[in-house]
Amino acid sequence: MNIKNKKLKIDKIVEEINFHNNLYYNEDRPKISDANYDKLISELRILIKDSPDLKIENNPLENIGGKAGEKFSKFTHLSPMLSLDNAMDRADLLNFEKRLYNFLGSSFDDLEFCIEPKIDGLSANLIYKNGNLNLAATRGNGKIGEVITSNVLTIKEIPRNLKGTSIPNLLEVRGEIFITRADFEKLNSKNNNQFANPRNAAAGSLRQLDLSITAKRPLKFIAHGFGIINEKRKKTYFEQMQQFKKWGIPISPLLKRAMSINELMQIYNETASKRIDIPYDIDGLVYKINDLSLQDRLGFIGKAPRWAVAHKFESESAETQIEKIDIQIGRTGSVTPVARLKSINIGGVIVSNATLHNFDEIDKKDVRVGDTVVVERAGDVIPHVIEVLNKGKKNRPQPFQRPKKCPICKSIILIDEDEVVIRCSGTYICEAQIIGRLKHYVSRGALDIDGLGDKQVNLLYKNNFIRQYSDIYSLYEKKDTICPLEGWGELSFNNLIKAINDKKDIPLSKLIYALGIRFVGEKNAKAISSVYENLSDFKKAIDINTELSIRIRESMNDIDGLGPKAIDSFYEYLEHKGNKEEILRLIKCCNILVDKENIQESSITGKKILFTGSLESMSRAEAKSIAEKLGANVVSSISHSTDILVSGEKSGSKLKKAQELGIKVIDESEWITISKI
Ligand code: IVH
Repeated sequence: MNIKNKKLKIDKIVEEINFHNNLYYNEDRPKISDANYDKLISELRILIKDSPDLKIENNPLENIGGKAGEKFSKFTHLSPMLSLDNAMDRADLLNFEKRLYNFLGSSFDDLEFCIEPKIDGLSANLIYKNGNLNLAATRGNGKIGEVITSNVLTIKEIPRNLKGTSIPNLLEVRGEIFITRADFEKLNSKNNNQFANPRNAAAGSLRQLDLSITAKRPLKFIAHGFGIINEKRKKTYFEQMQQFKKWGIPISPLLKRAMSINELMQIYNETASKRIDIPYDIDGLVYKINDLSLQDRLGFIGKAPRWAVAHKFESESAETQIEKIDIQIGRTGSVTPVARLKSINIGGVIVSNATLHNFDEIDKKDVRVGDTVVVERAGDVIPHVIEVLNKGKKNRPQPFQRPKKCPICKSIILIDEDEVVIRCSGTYICEAQIIGRLKHYVSRGALDIDGLGDKQVNLLYKNNFIRQYSDIYSLYEKKDTICPLEGWGELSFNNLIKAINDKKDIPLSKLIYALGIRFVGEKNAKAISSVYENLSDFKKAIDINTELSIRIRESMNDIDGLGPKAIDSFYEYLEHKGNKEEILRLIKCCNILVDKENIQESSITGKKILFTGSLESMSRAEAKSIAEKLGANVVSSISHSTDILVSGEKSGSKLKKAQELGIKVIDESEWITISKI
């Protein structure tokens, strides 16, 4: 490429990046995915690197963030708000480490790092004078930001006054203002899907001249650094953050320390796999030298500190086109629209389908066939469409229509109580539902039968070998007809029969879960099974008109965490004659173990126990699980039938009521003695 063409190319990319920067930083309405933006930036970097003498106007690589907006007054930061260099892989990290050792000299062989998630929000600078919040500003271009003090004062998590001791006269706290994904969903559904993602929602909520709007928005804050601390600064970043916490400033609960790149990599991999469990968007981890005097020594190059680096997660979203929208029917009849995509590689995985969740979601996002969309893939979760990029364009096809009949069994489609999910009403005739239930029965979380994957279930169903769960247990009789089928042979058949026989000892809770009853997931199945004393009771109570069954249904209401939706759904299932008969067949074919028979006998076995107040030595979840192992039923509300109340710190009305009802009350130390049996 000659120099003239190169200059033209650079100018074009610069213009494009600046266009997107403006949308992102100043208008809070990005039009490009992070992955494609990063691609433009690295393209520009390479072009510039090859021709260092070219003069480039408005070079986006030299600016950080957006321009300060016009609505708010300007503020020159007391110390610059820096940006971060990115590391994409282990090699980049080793380079980072090498630079550190090179800079500090070979005498250092034990550098300690602090690790925190890189939160995808807006950075803010909070200035505390004598412990009082004096001014808050956005980052702006790193030197000059916008004053947002009044807006920040509406954020509950940000203290107006620091509590505790050793407070410096002047303190600059830096951190991220953000919105959790759950809050974003709620907010967006109330606001006509105005925001593309949680970051935009946080930006749009914060930069409001009308403070009453900001006050209503669920903005959160986590500190991730500081500028000036004019006295009593701690020796390490970690200690300083602990001090922030004592003063009442929120810090990351995921702050960790590590001594080597290997350790950093391990934490990175762990966090990447748990990313979905972190309630807010993060796009990587930030590693910082822990020792503050070393940070001072290392200083910064350009706009980024030498002592820190952002280790970004692999891009997990990408742009592609929707070729078709199909309808899928789940095992409970749920009708889910699925986007068939032009195949695309997202973070190393080829993606050609994405869920559109439900039809409300399609309407809200206005997704149509032919659209260019951003698809996100997080870990093992099914990829989903997060945004349509060509909404304003002309000549789009008509909006997608909700089906009125099930495309598989032609039954009428019903609208659910919550009016979000629509369901095929052909519960017992719809092939999609029947096959879905069979797949669920043998799946990993349920009976976990090796050799019965989706493909085999489809084949055995289509050839009439299995129509209901119990058919699985007579497959051994069909050797002569199954072995000749495509993909089967004597060995695979024998292995399958062995796998089926190996899983014939089935705890009752597992059986109830495997039946695939709506609202009865693993947790509820466990809770339901806990009320049956033995198998003979369960068998009798399958007939819902017996006195025993009615009594058992009532006792389910007391079980902690088991709601009426699950109980009603379970009893509705038993109402159907075919289901009842199938359970009896399964009891005959298999060895159903009533969970009660596996418990450890103790003084609380068979007792109804209730926890109230907080326990110091263990979480409520752990206490519950111990009580259940000891054969107690953990209940959620107090009544005459409650046997024991475990009263922790700050027990309130339940303790009072227990005393009135004459129920045995024990404290935490007594509970610990029981729990250690
Ligand atoms: S450290 C001097 N730590 O990322 C170091 N930044 O790309 C500068 N960010 O402007 C910041 N989480 O808004 C740091 N744990 C974290 C962060 C974090 C998010 C943002 C911050 C910064 C940008 C730099």
